[in-house]
Amino acid sequence: MSPIPTRTAVTDSPVLDIFAERWSTRIFDETAPLDEAAFASALEAARWAPSAGNTQPWHAIVARRGTAEHQRVLDALLGFNQSWAGSASALVVFVAETAREDGDPLNWAVYDTGQAAAYFTIQAHAGGLATHQMGGFQRDQVAAAFDLDPRFEPIAVVAVGTLGDAGAASEILRERESAPRTRRPVAESLFVDA
Ligand SMILES: Cc1cc2nc3c(=O)[nH]c(=O)nc-3n(C[C@H](O)[C@H](O)[C@H](O)COP(=O)(O)O)c2cc1C
Repeated sequence: MSPIPTRTAVTDSPVLDIFAERWSTRIFDETAPLDEAAFASALEAARWAPSAGNTQPWHAIVARRGTAEHQRVLDALLGFNQSWAGSASALVVFVAETAREDGDPLNWAVYDTGQAAAYFTIQAHAGGLATHQMGGFQRDQVAAAFDLDPRFEPIAVVAVGTLGDAGAASEILRERESAPRTRRPVAESLFVDA
C-alpha cells in the first residue's frame, strides 16, 4: 500500500497557498459529523461571492449524512459518484435561480452560482473541510425530489466532510487519489495575450 503523496499543486507562478492546496478528494471519513462552524463559514463565504447586479442567485440544498434528504441527493448521483460521495458528512446541491418570479431571466445565474460554490470550497478547505464538486447527477431527479420551481436549476452537488483514511480505502479510490494533479499551461488558455 503506497502512501498518498501530497496533492499540493506545483504552480508556474506563485498563488495563495489555499489555491494550490485545495483538491477534490473521494475519500471521506464516513463516521465524522459535519464540522458545523467550518461549514457555516463556507456558506458565509458563498454569501459574499460577487454576483451580477448583486442578484445573489445561488441557493443550496444542504443534506447531512443520515437524513432522508441526504439519501435523496445520493440517489440522484450518477455512476461512480454514488460509490464514494455518500461517505462525506454532507451533500450540498448548489442551485441557480435562472429567472425571477416574473419570468425575467437572470442571465449570469449559473456563472454566479459557480462563483459562490468556488468561494464555498476554498473557505471549506481553509477550515479543514474537504470538498468534491460533482456535475454527475440527475438534475431532474433532484429538482423533483425537492419540488423545485423550474426557474431554479440544480448546477452541482458538493460533497463536504473530513478527509478519510486513504490506507483503508479501496484500490480504485487510492489509485485516483494518488494520480498527479495536472493543468494545461496558462498560455494555452489565452486566446489573446496582447
Ligand atoms: C462543475 C464540476 C463538475 C464535476 N463533476 C465531477 C463528477 O461528477 N465526478 C467527479 O468525480 N469529479 C467531478 N468534478 C471534479 C473534477 O474532476 C476536479 O475538480 C478536477 O479533476 C480537478 O481536480 P482538483 O479539484 O483535485 O484540482 C467536477 C468538478 C467541477 C468543478
